[in-house]
Amino acid sequence: MHQQREHFGSRFAVIMALAGSAVGLGNIWRFPYMVGRHGGGAFIIVYIVCSLLVSLPVFFAEGILGKSTRLNTLGAIKKVAPKWRWAGYMGILAAFVITSYYSVVGGWSLDYFIRSVSGGFKGLSMEASAGIFSRMTSSAWETLVSFFGFLLLSAMVVAAGVEKGIGRFSKLMMPLLFFMIVLIVVKSLSLPGAKQGMDYLLKPDFSKLDGPAIAAALGQSFFSLSLGVGCVLTYSSYMKSDGKIFQTGLWTALFDTIFALMAGFAIMPAVFSVEGLEPSAGPSLVYETLPVIFSQMGVLVPVIFFLAVLIAAFTSSISMYEVVVAWLVDEKKMPRPRAVLLVFVAAAALGTVCALVPAVFNACDFSTSNIFMTLGALIFVIIVGWCMPSHIARDTFDGKAWPVVHFLIKWIAPVAIAAIAVTNLL
Ligand code: ALA
Repeated sequence: MHQQREHFGSRFAVIMALAGSAVGLGNIWRFPYMVGRHGGGAFIIVYIVCSLLVSLPVFFAEGILGKSTRLNTLGAIKKVAPKWRWAGYMGILAAFVITSYYSVVGGWSLDYFIRSVSGGFKGLSMEASAGIFSRMTSSAWETLVSFFGFLLLSAMVVAAGVEKGIGRFSKLMMPLLFFMIVLIVVKSLSLPGAKQGMDYLLKPDFSKLDGPAIAAALGQSFFSLSLGVGCVLTYSSYMKSDGKIFQTGLWTALFDTIFALMAGFAIMPAVFSVEGLEPSAGPSLVYETLPVIFSQMGVLVPVIFFLAVLIAAFTSSISMYEVVVAWLVDEKKMPRPRAVLLVFVAAAALGTVCALVPAVFNACDFSTSNIFMTLGALIFVIIVGWCMPSHIARDTFDGKAWPVVHFLIKWIAPVAIAAIAVTNLL
């Protein structure tokens, strides 16, 4: 029996789903720190230039592949450029690996959200906070319960389907997320460390803009827009035929960048308001430092903050989950519930190893964000720029900016990605 392919109900749903995929932990714990470390406002300018000249063309290429073929990552590549099919498998594998390790961190945010609701951060000292985090991560039981909880919730949303699950959830949660982060920014900017925090983020220091800083800007922009593994491709394959790739890409990138900046405005003033505290990146910032500072700002602030972290992680995780499910549904002709269950079991297995063995966790994070996403992005632009008949790409893109976008996809993006990949290797 031929089943009709699912689709999102509206353009708004597509944009919210893609914004949900983009806005994630990368915006909260990597972006603000990177900005401060690599030259503040100067880094932000490079980040925006990289997003416009390289990341957005990759986004458009994935969008064109998905919307024109109406297939999953592997199916789309097989149809347009069969000799690159291995890249399809690589994308699906990378999305699967990200679903697994990202859900471990998502589980931490679920744990912290529950803790904040039950008042567990009241009167917290820095030492006590570090103790909570290290106990949580070293307790196999606690880590695994929250990991399974997070993965199960993701499975439930994905199982509900493209529009009824992912679309509805994103339409509801993304505006809420935005509202919550605005509340925290307002609160944070009223702290004594506001000026220092803003200086750390915005004061341009062009002397820090070296090769690694530019490579970091591009890598962060890829990770942040969930490029190179087929998330944008898969979601675009669920667009209705009147969906606009250009507008969708611009809105998603805008939303993602604004959210990343706001996360910086929420976090850095708070960090600088405590004497002697230095900004850091990653888990220690979100799970050790911030609970202490936010808990001093009232009971509600940590609740709102950890709910925001949870939603941000969750909407990104389901987009990775859907990449793998779409492949099983399209290529293996599996009913959606069975595909969701299969991915759940496999991700539960890999995620358990990631949760228990830090070296595996780090290897998964490093290989996906530094190798697979970059390589995948390069192949997507090559396929659309060089293998796909250009009239099909143009008609699918359906926008006046096509000549410029085509030039960026065909020439600028591949050269820039290859140059940065080589720089990284040297
Ligand atoms: N785009 C997601 C993030 O930034 C993966 O966390």
